[in-house]
Parts: sequence; structure tokens; C-alpha cells
Amino acid sequence: MSKLTLGVLASGSGSNFQSIIDKTESGYLDADIAVLISDNPKAFALERARNHNIESLVLRPKDFDNKSSYYAHIADELKKRGVSLVILAGFMRVVKKELIQEFPNKIMNIHPALLPSFPGLHGQKQAADYGVKIAGCTVHFVDEGVDTGPIIIQAAVPAYHDDTEETLGERILKEEHKIFPYAIKLFSEGKLSVEGQKVVMLGNKNNIVLHNPAQ
Ligand code: GAR
Repeated sequence: MSKLTLGVLASGSGSNFQSIIDKTESGYLDADIAVLISDNPKAFALERARNHNIESLVLRPKDFDNKSSYYAHIADELKKRGVSLVILAGFMRVVKKELIQEFPNKIMNIHPALLPSFPGLHGQKQAADYGVKIAGCTVHFVDEGVDTGPIIIQAAVPAYHDDTEETLGERILKEEHKIFPYAIKLFSEGKLSVEGQKVVMLGNKNNIVLHNPAQ
């Protein structure tokens, strides 16, 4: 497989972005990060990009006529840079078809819950408030629904009765940092095949990764 060119979209701290930077720099991922795009000029992810000499752009929806032109512009910026896989690393918006159709099954999102439970915002809080005993995170391809696309990989963590959004979120985030780079690695090795709603992991007939795949 040829080397991947990643385009990353992030709205906030960017710790998932950082885990992907680290895994490209260590050689675990055979990928270049061409650009970071943020919708938030205050995102710490922008600082992380600067620290690693990664080009960054701030693109805010309010500077565009509508969502369609916003996402069409993002798609153009990514295509201009030869991006082959788009990474939503804490991008807190529902992306629209103008972007999705340009990158079919080539946009990955990380979600802080075991989908299809607790889609949308604050997955960790939804899980903690619900009182689940097992929580976790999901990497999935992005389709036009809200967190409904084909699931690539999930990791589970225990949830305790006194967990808050923060304590549970921290436990989940540690797993996010492992499974997101791992999903990208599987993609780069051509091991992910999408069959309808399902992702089949070639060479792993049980389609299950138990723990710490990125280590
Ligand atoms: C992560 O927990 C990610 O799963 C979540 O935002 C956080 C971003 O953290 N994403 C969503 O909730 C998307 N709906 P980070 O900026 O430190 O990577």
C-alpha cells in the first residue's frame, strides 16, 4: 500500500490528534499528516500542529454562506493536499454530504461511547448518567447520520457507580489513544473492507481486537 496522507479535523484539545502525530513520528503509522483543520481558533490542537510543523487552517462555519459551502470548502482544501484519509479527532460537528461524498468510507471518527449507544455530544456523560457497567469508545467510518457509520473497532472500560463525565471520560480517552491509531494502521494496510453496515477486518476472522492493540 502507498503511504497515507492524512487530513485531521479537530475542535478542541487534540489529544487524539497528538496520539496520531506520535504514532507517525515513531514509524508505527506509515502516514504523513498534511493538514489540521479546526473550526475553533482557540483549539489547543492548533498549538500541537505548530509544535510539529504541521500546516493548520482555521475554518469557521460562520464565515461561510451555509453548511454546504463550508463542507465543500473543507473537501477542496483536503483534496488540494492529496489527502487519502480524513480523521475527525474531536471535531464537534456533524459533517455534511458535501464532504462525505468526496471521501466515501475514507473519513474516520472517534466517539467516546460504545455505539450505537449514546451517540451525539457528551457520550461519556450519557453513559455515566445512565449507569452502564461497561463503557468505551468506537472508531467508525462516517456516513450522513449522527455516529451511525460502519464500526471499525471498539474498546471497553469499566464504569463505576461514582464515575462522573470526567473520571469516566479520562478512562475512555486512554483507550481512544490506542484504538484510533490502530484503526488508521489497519486502513493503511488495506485490511478494512466495508460490506454494507459492517466493516470486515481482513486476516482477523473474529473481527475482534481484545486489548491494547496499538502497543
Ligand atoms: C474525545 O473524547 C472524542 O472521542 C470526543 O471528543 C474528545 C476529543 O478529545 N469526540 C466526540 O465527542 C465526537 N462526537 P481530544 O480533543 O483530546 O482528542
